[in-house]
Amino acid sequence: MTTASELTPAMRQYLRAKKDLPDKTILLFRMGDFYELFFEDAKTAAPLMDIVLTARAGVPMCGVPYHSMRGYIGKILDGGYNVAIAEQMEDPKLAKGLVKRDVTQIITPGTVLDDNLLDAAQSLFLAAILPSRNICGLALLDFSTGDFRLTELRTVAALETEINRHRPAECLLPISCLERWRRDGFPDFPPHLTWTPLEDWNFDFEMAQDTLCRHFGVASLDGFGCRGLTAAVAAAGAMLGHVKNNLRRDGAHVTSLRTYQAEDGMILDRISQRNLELVEPIFADSKDNTLMSILDHTVTPMGARMLREWILRPLRDQAAIEERLDAVGDLLATPTMLAELRELLAAVRDLERVVARLNFGGANARDLLVLQHGLDGIPGLRAVLADAAAPLLASQRAELTELPEASGLIARAIVDEPPLAIKEGGIIRTGYHEELDMLRRASTEGKDWIAGYQVKEQERTGIKSLKVRFNKVFGYYVEVTKTNLEMVPADYMRKQTLVNAERFITPELKEIEDKVLGAEEKSKALEYELFQDLREKLCVHTVAIQRNAQAIARLDCLASLAEAASRYHYVRPRITTEPVLDIRGGRHPVLEARLKDETFVPNDVHLDARADQLAIITGPNMAGKSTYIRQVALLTLMAQMGSFIPADEATIGITDRIFTRVGAADDISRGQSTFMVEMVETANILNNATPSSLIILDEIGRGTSTFDGLSLAWAVAEYLHDHPEVKARTLFATHYHELTDLALTKPGVRNYNVLVKEVGDQISFMRKIVPGCADKSYGIHVARLAGLPREVILRAAEVLKNLESNELEEEGKPKIAQTRRKKSKDTPEQPLLFDF
Ligand SMILES: Nc1ncnc2c1ncn2[C@@H]1O[C@H](COP(=O)(O)OP(=O)(O)OP(=O)(O)O)[C@@H](O)[C@H]1O
Ligand SMILES: [Mg+2]
Repeated sequence: MTTASELTPAMRQYLRAKKDLPDKTILLFRMGDFYELFFEDAKTAAPLMDIVLTARAGVPMCGVPYHSMRGYIGKILDGGYNVAIAEQMEDPKLAKGLVKRDVTQIITPGTVLDDNLLDAAQSLFLAAILPSRNICGLALLDFSTGDFRLTELRTVAALETEINRHRPAECLLPISCLERWRRDGFPDFPPHLTWTPLEDWNFDFEMAQDTLCRHFGVASLDGFGCRGLTAAVAAAGAMLGHVKNNLRRDGAHVTSLRTYQAEDGMILDRISQRNLELVEPIFADSKDNTLMSILDHTVTPMGARMLREWILRPLRDQAAIEERLDAVGDLLATPTMLAELRELLAAVRDLERVVARLNFGGANARDLLVLQHGLDGIPGLRAVLADAAAPLLASQRAELTELPEASGLIARAIVDEPPLAIKEGGIIRTGYHEELDMLRRASTEGKDWIAGYQVKEQERTGIKSLKVRFNKVFGYYVEVTKTNLEMVPADYMRKQTLVNAERFITPELKEIEDKVLGAEEKSKALEYELFQDLREKLCVHTVAIQRNAQAIARLDCLASLAEAASRYHYVRPRITTEPVLDIRGGRHPVLEARLKDETFVPNDVHLDARADQLAIITGPNMAGKSTYIRQVALLTLMAQMGSFIPADEATIGITDRIFTRVGAADDISRGQSTFMVEMVETANILNNATPSSLIILDEIGRGTSTFDGLSLAWAVAEYLHDHPEVKARTLFATHYHELTDLALTKPGVRNYNVLVKEVGDQISFMRKIVPGCADKSYGIHVARLAGLPREVILRAAEVLKNLESNELEEEGKPKIAQTRRKKSKDTPEQPLLFDF
């Protein structure tokens, strides 16, 4: 083991930097052209980064070239560690003694800024949670855009919904809370969430408030609507303090704070998000199955991120919904406006993230061009929207601010195709800065002089093959081949002898060389300075650029919905606050687009708070029950996000929440059995549904014995119908035909079934929902279609027959096990259900 006294000064500097870092943080220590890792960090990270671990003087180490460092950050984060970066704080050439080095930033899963590690179509949130007595404060920050929001939640379920909707990569919380959850069990949060506990005092309200006020330069947070939200403010302040102090990230692009009410939007819990395949498919390999894949025709990354939010958080306020519908309708009615708008939007790149990098000092010259192009598009966007009638389009137009000063500055300063590096020159245009031009001229003139010098010396010495060359070791030199050596003049100074040639320098050459190289170096340094200065000047416009980005995102979403409506022939739904749901000729948005050979069969639905409150849907397997009930949920959701919908016409009564209980999804990872999951989800529905909710139940009670299942299904249906606090509009698909008897005694229950046509021994699926109940399940028929062995099919048909005829043996046992075929193998006594 190396002791402290044996350590080199650089190593002592390293250990000092390492000492102040939080746990589980790997330090990348800049040394010349490399980022080096030492000791335990090297051992831990080398396999994660897939690089070779070496050792020097007994110290384990590894390193990566500085220019490829970005690629490795993701690998370290994926391994469950944070990354601290220590930079050289002064130019090594100018430093006296050891170069000063400092940790400039710590990158955690929730605070990644690098474009290579971010998903353009998805926000990356860092969350902070503060549960206190009856309320839970929640703050969310997308560091890559500066989007900062907070809210307070009254129940654990509401917290779960918000966390599942935002899917933060990392969550800060008081250490005492983490300990409690470790003991008592965690809420239902998405997997792979990184927990970062902070000492409880970080969440002190006064301190948090002070941090926020100082950051935003305000005397009070009331202007942000934060009055009374102590838990949320404490969470937000703790988070900002953590980002600034612990992670040493500036956050100047976090320019405002937005409060929101979780209840303002339609509530979609994790289960429903998943069951309805809103943004992620249930099976990872079928990305095309999501609602997002159908509705997303956005052309900007900001738009894609916002649309995702719209889908996961449909609206509940009628006026806000109508406002979006008006805008979509306006665009749809003016196809030229829609087409032009989308074309102009497509030229805008990720303004939101560029402006974040700009403030953070990480923006390169290409980022500035992205900014310039984005800003240059704004006059065009404003012009296209000049005649837009819909208030939402007009207000977005008003939000768009032209910033000719900023874009003109970039246009004047930056060359057309700048390099990625910002310290190597080649970024700034000629004519932008006089001194830079002079330096560049000096350098070119010097180079011209050198070219001329070669000709001059060839003439003077008579050596035709004499060359003036350059290398990094001696700079410029004259090279003469061995055969011509006797012609070399006396003033040449020999520098190096090669096999066939000798290299010389001359005082004249060196004098010019100093000028050329000096000018080059100076011009690079000056360019960097000018570039930094330019970034600072542009930062002044941060708020205006962010507002532009938001307006562009909203326009992109509206255009995307209009585009979907036009492609798939959607209609505008009527929105009402009455608890009704009336859809004529509704179609499943995803399935209708994906069906190749068949055409989709449209269906109606009518639900209300009186005679049609609970629809029981029976019908054979494969008939289309599940498709139908999901379709109703999706159309409701689409309408409330402000989208047109696939139907002939529709009236949608605003829904506070869509509950789904669908299929049997095993959740072994959470330590619950299939049936347990089913019951937990059902309990959640019964306990939380209101008369404004929409409930989709697909085969409740399947995971247990038939009698238990049927009894539970029956009781659940009764409860949903009878309980005055629930009475939610409900669609209940089931194979328990017994449930259809409910309609006899319950006034709000209606029976429907899916039509099938029986032709001989074949059935054909009509996919049509009609009043009445089904009498058969045709399960064996479907099993045959699925290719079960003929022997099994025959036997199943036989057992079914026995069951249906309720035949019992003398002792009173069912004759399920019996077979009649023993008697006559070739010709059965009586025809089976299907004559296979
Ligand atoms: N309206 C429709 N138009 C065209 N095809 C449809 C329609 N509805 C359903 N289908 C097709 O039928 C298939 C089966 O539908 P679905 O899963 O809804 O049946 P189900 O009645 O729920 O069956 P099970 O009782 O086995 O769960 C779907 O995958 C789809 O391809
Ligand atoms: Mg089904």
